[in-house]
Amino acid sequence: MTLQTTSEPRSPVYFDRMIDAFHAGTTGRHAHLGHWNLRDDGTADDYGTEDPNAFARAQSRLNSEVIRMASVAPGTRILDVACGFGGLIQTLDELLTNADLTGINIDIRQLEICQRLPSVNDNALRWQEADACDLPFADATFDTLFCIEAMFHFASRDQFLAETRRVLKPGGVLVLTDVVLLQDDRMPSFCFDAILNDGYGPWPDPWCESGDATTLLKSSGNWTDIARIDATQNTLPSYGYIAPQHVRDHHAPNDVAARSALLLQWLHTNQLLRYEYVSATVGAKS
Ligand SMILES: C[S@@+](CC[C@H](N)C(=O)[O-])C[C@H]1O[C@@H](n2cnc3c(N)ncnc32)[C@H](O)[C@@H]1O
Repeated sequence: MTLQTTSEPRSPVYFDRMIDAFHAGTTGRHAHLGHWNLRDDGTADDYGTEDPNAFARAQSRLNSEVIRMASVAPGTRILDVACGFGGLIQTLDELLTNADLTGINIDIRQLEICQRLPSVNDNALRWQEADACDLPFADATFDTLFCIEAMFHFASRDQFLAETRRVLKPGGVLVLTDVVLLQDDRMPSFCFDAILNDGYGPWPDPWCESGDATTLLKSSGNWTDIARIDATQNTLPSYGYIAPQHVRDHHAPNDVAARSALLLQWLHTNQLLRYEYVSATVGAKS
């Protein structure tokens, strides 16, 4: 297990609280919305805000979904970009043998938490401080690259995808999840922007004006088998955990992260936020 560092941290604002929560034992290694299976009537299976483990189960389910999309194999090299507290690498480590699993993050504090994770399967676990738009790896290094719920923070989706294409081997697979906000005239854009960036920033291109992941992958000509799954409804119930009623009642007026969570909930509930899973395979260079 190795940890390399290069620069000062620049992590999203809400992670100050998440790191405290991790150390207090009130949050686990997954820092994403999770995935709820839906019944025929559209309600979430297994949802219950009284059950403290339901959210963690939903988060494990999201990991299973993205791992299934990637068809990961033993003995391969896998990169998790913006690895959070190492939850996805922990899941991969439990599944695989002879694998080389690397997590990168902009925030050294999260990587220090990752570094405490032992491999249960004698896989090589590596952690490195790096910016997703400037990956410190040679061309054609990895078989699979994941990026879960983080791309909206990056300075440029396009630059990140170019870096992804560069560090993946020919035939290598990318699986990401991303949040796309949709324009709406019910609220002026500067409100979205200010509230989002205060609590959940950096979020430089909320409306994907430079293109969403699928558009960018298609237009680059370097990818094949591009697939998108709309998981908007599968992620929606999670606000019952990240923005519960007591946050709404007591924290929202003065707490920037709580305000951002409530804004995201409002957008998500009003179909102004699309949560998507995207996969693609490195094809021939155009
Ligand atoms: C919502 S969390 C998701 C974490 C993890 N992928 C997971 O699913 O648990 C977003 C992550 O993106 C990381 N991040 C933000 N900007 C980054 C950048 N430019 N380069 C690398 N990581 C970044 C944050 O530090 C944080 O760990």
